Amino acid sequence: MSQGSTTKQAVNIVLEAAKRAGAQTELIHLGDINLPIYDDREDATTYPEQVHEFIRKVTEADGLVIGSPEYHGNMTGAVKNAIDFLSGRILQGKAVAILGVAGGSMGATNTTNTLQMIMRNLHAWPLPSSPSVSSSYMAFDETGKLKDEKLQARFEALGTDLVDFVKRLT
Ligand SMILES: Cc1cc2nc3c(=O)[nH]c(=O)nc-3n(C[C@H](O)[C@H](O)[C@H](O)COP(=O)(O)O)c2cc1C
Repeated sequence: MSQGSTTKQAVNIVLEAAKRAGAQTELIHLGDINLPIYDDREDATTYPEQVHEFIRKVTEADGLVIGSPEYHGNMTGAVKNAIDFLSGRILQGKAVAILGVAGGSMGATNTTNTLQMIMRNLHAWPLPSSPSVSSSYMAFDETGKLKDEKLQARFEALGTDLVDFVKRLT
């Protein structure tokens, strides 16, 4: 995702709603942390510090919000690469809110469906509703909210649902 990321804006809407519902939140923007390519090396301790910090933060979280832009009809390689570092049972039993962002008018359904599959594969609990933004370049107002009020409400509900779900699971 890019530096002036619309995905970051969408994730922020969910995180703000989760915060209002009582959660402590932290946003990790992959564009800022410079993860290397995951290569299944024998000695994982040789990955740079940002990898260990990323894994530690995800491990400590009770719930996650994962957002990806849609690239070439699916989630980005950057997001998949980050998930590849979360081996073993790091995500097992965690509640995960999923969202997608697309430049096109059809939304990011392939992205959200793929993330649903991956989360199930990793024994996480993806929330059933995984909304996506379409026409991302004109979807947000200057305050960072979605111009479509119903969609804004869906993204906010994703944050409160995540907090509810975490409470049930923990
Ligand atoms: C390489 C590339 C491929 C893209 N492919 C698609 C696509 O298949 N479908 C679509 O709707 N938008 C596509 N887009 C548009 C992005 O989904 C859109 O610009 C999105 O807002 C990018 O997220 P960001 O603002 O967080 O960087 C593509 C953008 C790039 C750079």
